[in-house]
Amino acid sequence: MREENFVVYEHEELSEEESISRSESFYSEMNKRRSVRHFSQKSVPEEVIQNIIKTAGTAPSGAHKQPYTFCVVSNDELKSKIRKMAEQEEFINYNGRMSDEWLDDLKKFGTDHIKPFIEDAPYLIIVFKKSYNEGEEGKTRNYYVNESVGIAVGFLLAAIQNAGLVALTHTPSPMNFLAEVLGRPKNERAYLNIPVGYPHSSANVPKIERKELDEIAQFYR
Ligand SMILES: Cc1cc2nc3c(=O)[nH]c(=O)nc-3n(C[C@H](O)[C@H](O)[C@H](O)COP(=O)(O)O)c2cc1C
Repeated sequence: MREENFVVYEHEELSEEESISRSESFYSEMNKRRSVRHFSQKSVPEEVIQNIIKTAGTAPSGAHKQPYTFCVVSNDELKSKIRKMAEQEEFINYNGRMSDEWLDDLKKFGTDHIKPFIEDAPYLIIVFKKSYNEGEEGKTRNYYVNESVGIAVGFLLAAIQNAGLVALTHTPSPMNFLAEVLGRPKNERAYLNIPVGYPHSSANVPKIERKELDEIAQFYR
């Protein structure tokens, strides 16, 4: 392996106490995160959105291909167009395309095909996954695309919480219309629509419980 391909890894070691304290406070902050479906129209500096996306770009990805594009939509006309098309797909979802079990599971969230948050949120971050790359040298491969994009979106959502903003992970499937409206290239497929902004002053969220540690983890000591 060629030495010039490597740099010394800079590591700042924490004491055990500091490590415990920081892990607790990060958990406590992330435990406050909720999916919000009622947005205020209050503006958010674009710089915050840029930093949030830069944070997503620090996520690990298969062979470091970073196989995603985050499209930031703040244009009102585009948002209205997207809302209209999303509501058309969602209407079909709620009226036949989703199974009875799925509809039953969604009852407690009180959701339907009407999606005002698409117009109210100051930004939609529409995430596209790149199944392959198309460049001057032709098509090149990406690896573990779903995993890589999912991890980057996890970083994105954590950064949104850290910036004092709220978001929703929205999947108005099938989402092909998003690539059409935004004129995305053939190698990109819509992955998630993430409205970002401040919560509406009367926003409410469903009462949910999160699984306990022993329900989501198994320790082999
Ligand atoms: C992949 C994915 C898709 C989702 N799709 C939708 C959606 O289309 N509409 C919606 O209202 N919520 C959607 N959600 C939000 C979930 O309902 C929400 O995360 C879950 O109920 C837990 O609530 P919390 O995020 O407030 O902890 C989605 C979440 C994920 C991770």
